[in-house]
Amino acid sequence: MTNFDLSSLPYYDPRKHRKVALVTGGNSGIGWYTVLHLYMHGFAVYVAGRNANRVSRALKDIKKEAKNRLKALEPKNRNPVGELLYLSLDLAQLKSVEKAAKKFRSLESSLDVLINNAGVMALPYSVTEDGFEIQLQTNYVAHFLLTMQLLPNIKRCRGRIISVSSIGHNLELSYFSLSQSFNYKPNILFTWMRYAMAKTACIQFAKMLAIKHSDVLCMSVHPGLVMKTNLFSYWTRLPIVGIFFWFYFQLVGYFFGVSNEQGSVATLRAALSTELEREWDNGKYLTTGGREAKPSYVANNLDNAASTWLWTIHELRDRGYDF
Ligand SMILES: NC(=O)c1ccc[n+]([C@@H]2O[C@H](COP(=O)([O-])OP(=O)(O)OC[C@H]3O[C@@H](n4cnc5c(N)ncnc54)[C@H](OP(=O)(O)O)[C@@H]3O)[C@@H](O)[C@H]2O)c1
Repeated sequence: MTNFDLSSLPYYDPRKHRKVALVTGGNSGIGWYTVLHLYMHGFAVYVAGRNANRVSRALKDIKKEAKNRLKALEPKNRNPVGELLYLSLDLAQLKSVEKAAKKFRSLESSLDVLINNAGVMALPYSVTEDGFEIQLQTNYVAHFLLTMQLLPNIKRCRGRIISVSSIGHNLELSYFSLSQSFNYKPNILFTWMRYAMAKTACIQFAKMLAIKHSDVLCMSVHPGLVMKTNLFSYWTRLPIVGIFFWFYFQLVGYFFGVSNEQGSVATLRAALSTELEREWDNGKYLTTGGREAKPSYVANNLDNAASTWLWTIHELRDRGYDF
């Protein structure tokens, strides 16, 4: 399987253009490499995260990694890097999302690339202070709100919006309204249904955005099976059984997995590739290594996508957010 070649992506000299990206959850895993590459391609990257210490440590490490990679190149091939900035954002609180969007708008007029990457997976059932199931809010609803609040900035420069979904969306075998919370036991089964519904909604969101805002390129991606990220830590930290889960995830990673950096390729292709065009590629889904793929029947169906869109607009309106 050949990956999309990241060296074919365009570089923007920060001395000539100000290109701005915002990556949620850019402090670890796949997001970390997404930020590294955007930074090395000349972008001013806002890394939006909920823990200032974790994000500032990541920014330091990313700068160091970029320096080392540049040192290894011939001097004539060393391009100036962009800029790394921290934006405080907790997706589990809609107030924090609103605040982050407001802060961003006060600092920048345009947003070239928004990457809705942050996520949680297969957590026990819990409800946020905003009244949404935790996986649904973190992976989808909060990103919907963030995107809609930044849309004027994205439209100003005909930017791109990337929704990081998952192959796990295929577990939703028939369409369910997002009001169906699947709060059943055993958690080990039904938590995957909740994750699948949230990740299906991410794909549907990209499709609906592509229809409603065709001046912006909107895509969704599955990054690949990337087993060395923190996404699996709830399961691997469980007392006693955690070691079995750890072993299981390592085994899956060994046979089917890709590295954290390879996990960023699909997102980076969607965000930067000049081969992709609004006219032909809007709403499409890329998978491991940046290859185009077809999402599940449920995620691909536009009636389902429209129902999900309407459900979200109504739920957010009930909480005081109007679009
Ligand atoms: N790894 C895989 O195999 C795989 C497969 C398919 C899809 N994905 C998707 O890829 C994306 C990145 O996952 P990853 O594997 O790189 O996992 P990761 O290392 O756990 O990264 C997840 C990121 O999301 C952030 N996050 C979680 N809850 C948040 C909140 N309430 N507010 C703000 N940020 C929050 C985390 O921040 P903290 O550091 O503060 O926790 C972290 O930066 C996720 O959307 C995931 O569903 C991953």
